[in-house]
Amino acid sequence: MQVKNNLDNNSLMVNESLLSTSNGYFGVRGNFEEGYRNDYDTIRGTYINGFYETTDITYGEGAFGYPNTSQKIVNVIDGQTIKIYIDGELFNLFDGKVIDFKRKLDIEKGYSLRYIEWISKKGHHLKITIKRLASFTTLELFIIDYEVESVNYSGEIQIESTLNADVKNYSNKSDQRVASGHTKLLHVDKIDKNHGIATISSKTKISNLTIASSMNHNLNMEYTVKENSIIGMVKKNIKASEKISLIKYISFTDSIRHDDCFKESKNVVNVAMKNGEKYYFKDQEEYLNEFWKYSKINIDGEIEEEKAINYNIYQLLSSIGKVKNTNISAKGLSGEGYEGHYFWDTEIYMVPFFTLTNPQLAKRLLKFRYETLESAKIEAEKLGHKKGVKIPWRTISGSECSAYFLSGSAQYHINADVAYSYIQYYLATNDTEFLKEFGLEVLYKTALLWLDVGYFNNEGKFSIDAVTGPDEYTVMVNNNYYTNSLAKYHLKWVCKLSSILEKENISDWNRLKSKIAINENELTNMKNASEKMILLYSDELKINLQDDAFLKRKEWDLENTSEENYPLLLHYHPLYIYRYKVSKQADTILAHFLLDNETDIIMKNSYSYYEKITTHDSSLSPCIFSIMASRIKKIDKAYHYYKMTSKLDIENIKGNTKDGLHIANAGGVYMTIVYGFSGLRIKENGIHLSPIKPKEWTSYTFRINYKNSLVKVTISDKINIETEKEISLIIDKTKYLISGKRSLNYNNF
Ligand code: BGC
Repeated sequence: MQVKNNLDNNSLMVNESLLSTSNGYFGVRGNFEEGYRNDYDTIRGTYINGFYETTDITYGEGAFGYPNTSQKIVNVIDGQTIKIYIDGELFNLFDGKVIDFKRKLDIEKGYSLRYIEWISKKGHHLKITIKRLASFTTLELFIIDYEVESVNYSGEIQIESTLNADVKNYSNKSDQRVASGHTKLLHVDKIDKNHGIATISSKTKISNLTIASSMNHNLNMEYTVKENSIIGMVKKNIKASEKISLIKYISFTDSIRHDDCFKESKNVVNVAMKNGEKYYFKDQEEYLNEFWKYSKINIDGEIEEEKAINYNIYQLLSSIGKVKNTNISAKGLSGEGYEGHYFWDTEIYMVPFFTLTNPQLAKRLLKFRYETLESAKIEAEKLGHKKGVKIPWRTISGSECSAYFLSGSAQYHINADVAYSYIQYYLATNDTEFLKEFGLEVLYKTALLWLDVGYFNNEGKFSIDAVTGPDEYTVMVNNNYYTNSLAKYHLKWVCKLSSILEKENISDWNRLKSKIAINENELTNMKNASEKMILLYSDELKINLQDDAFLKRKEWDLENTSEENYPLLLHYHPLYIYRYKVSKQADTILAHFLLDNETDIIMKNSYSYYEKITTHDSSLSPCIFSIMASRIKKIDKAYHYYKMTSKLDIENIKGNTKDGLHIANAGGVYMTIVYGFSGLRIKENGIHLSPIKPKEWTSYTFRINYKNSLVKVTISDKINIETEKEISLIIDKTKYLISGKRSLNYNNF
């Protein structure tokens, strides 16, 4: 994926996110090694997944049970800096003459590339190629492969390479989606420079975590400690047409995952140097070959779209935590927006991709909620619940970090979102072992909360009051359709899975029951609550109602709202917004997509109704509208909304890509193709398809890993299937048993 190469400040900051190099454990933004001009702004950042500082939340007026602390992803030690001085002049893109300048992220080989052809003010001509690799196979390792070729210069060249621990987080007071305070989070603990390896460790004050980082180089450097950094320096002679190659190995280790992170950090670069950079570049490519075997999407007809889609998929892989206590934050590891917090984005927008292509990685995401159940229990108690656990709305280590409960803690639907992702994982994999070990406990404890938060009303219906659904422009409502319908599904499935496991092996089931403390009466209550759940419907409009007061609110005149006033949240007081019938994002229609639980006509009507009042101020919205447009066979709309997703970051459509990539949207891009255009759903009786095809495309292809079998699906004017094992496929209600290759005629586009 190639990016636009303007040297204005805004484009550079957007490219810092787009060209970040991450492997799910750490991420380095695409800053220039040598830096920018002094008057430019930059978010020079390196982040470790799940590595945070605890920060205070100060309320003007607090209330009982509000979280007092939050967590914030830390900008850790910076190993990016490399400076080249040629005949006394510092190479940089703002002096001298830039003849050629290209940047790209190679998603097949797994590195980012910067190529520059440059003539210094004194007329020295250089070609510089810089590759950066965050290793998928040695998660702690970052490599910068820096090659300088002299075209016409013969003489001395001085190379400086720095490990800098004088780092700060970014802040922006005018945007609530970026943090506004708490910038200096790391304090140097130890510095050491022995045997060619420079190492610094730094600590956070309150969370008491340590991060260590080391660097070494293929060239012999002399190291000097200067305040909180170590600078390596070497002078070399170069002749015209000669090349000098600097390989910088940088490691990151942390005290959550490593017993002695200082020692292990040194060890990583020591081993890396012995193996040499070629070894890791090759390994990276092999790892990615395996990844793309299940994950690649091909588009015949629009090559730029194919690139955009796979770029988004690559970012999902780059963002997913692969070690314990990690998940995917809203911006992955590409920036500090939303402070590195994990949201429901994971379960509803990101898990689906991993469940369908890489169930091993999906399990990591699912396990995170298991690992943090204790904190979810504490949160439920704080909210006054006598039973169950409450998944935090936003968190890093497991405790609730939302300081604004109306669109934070009140989003109880997150309990059902987590459950939904476990159920989908089970349907795609049949992995009952996972259910027994982790899954059922999470499903049961999150479901218990519904029994405490909801109640049977006078008519014997199950009601859930005072919650916020996904649409954050409508808060604290009763019987939000999304929440209720997902809770209904959640409760039903806990009962169903319990009986599946009971039938499978009664003594195992009894052991599990006592381990989780499953109570038979509660299972009966869950069944009743699920059956009696209120799902609001308007006879007049023939749509599902977002909540019981939704229709009463005033209409917002969206047509006459000027472009500059979007997103509304940055231009209107929340109270003003709450009084209107206006949605930030897909809510009711998201439930329709996930559950496919209403008639076609209700889904169509609801789609048209909610489309008119939705601003898509959240990047989590257009993909869902695209999927549902496909579901109701509105091909042009499906393609229109798809187009709003595929290049959302690449073209900085939301205007805030500089703060990090929108990773839920990246998952959404995948979903618009697989769930949207192809209509895929995984149900108990097999894989369902109901495809459409945008007229701009001749065909599109995707692969999934279904119950350990690679299934390749191509939609053209036919449906072509290739599967390793026999699968049951339902196309628009007609069932097929397919093994090997099969081509089916299809004319329902
Ligand atoms: C959306 C939430 C989302 C959060 C993080 C907000 O703008 O409204 O649904 O979880 O961003 O991506």
